[in-house]
Amino acid sequence: MKLLHIDSSILGGYSATRQLSVAIVDRYRQKHPDLDVISLDLAANPLPHLDGEALSFLGKDLTEDAASNKDLVAGAKALSDFKEADILVLGVPMYNFGIPSQLKAWIDRIAIAGQTFRYGANGVEGLAGGKTVILAVARGGIYSEGTPQAAFEHQVTYLKAVLGFLGVTDVKVIEAEGLAVNGGNDRPRILAEAESVIAAL
Ligand SMILES: Cc1cc2nc3c(=O)[nH]c(=O)nc-3n(C[C@H](O)[C@H](O)[C@H](O)COP(=O)(O)O)c2cc1C
Repeated sequence: MKLLHIDSSILGGYSATRQLSVAIVDRYRQKHPDLDVISLDLAANPLPHLDGEALSFLGKDLTEDAASNKDLVAGAKALSDFKEADILVLGVPMYNFGIPSQLKAWIDRIAIAGQTFRYGANGVEGLAGGKTVILAVARGGIYSEGTPQAAFEHQVTYLKAVLGFLGVTDVKVIEAEGLAVNGGNDRPRILAEAESVIAAL
């Protein structure tokens, strides 16, 4: 069984999502000792923005020339790692109401017509079903349903939409929100609560 672990926080050792995503991976290792884990740190090793050249190679075998272009190779590897993974653990900070641009750059490399979705006779068809995705989510503020800020939440709603488009419907969310509320004093409690949810996975 293959698990792809992706972090995207720019906050290094202070990152809440990194703390939670590692705890989730550890939990899955306990449950599946033979787990094959691939880790990708999109802050340390960002994928470049999708550009015209990369677009023309999306999902295709790289030509000899293109195979020397490390950006194209990294994009092709991102796609194959995603396709091969049975479980994905994504560290997802909220930055400016959405996901980090580093994580969006990864999405741009995996959402590929003919590879992870296609338009069939009845509309769009996701081709990447059968995976489990666990999102380790953190936010400074509070955006839960029913709160005044709920309409600003473009982090989990976006990821669920795009993953669903690719056929991935088994998406679990571990959420630590309100980390900056009350001067950050509630942070230890909020993270401990998220970790107890992880322990019960
Ligand atoms: C650049 C930046 C933008 C942020 N934007 C938001 C935001 O729009 N809403 C919010 O509630 N918190 C925001 N925060 C707070 C983060 O969501 C919070 O620090 C969270 O812990 C980020 O996850 P991380 O610690 O894994 O990086 C922002 C933080 C940074 C660094």
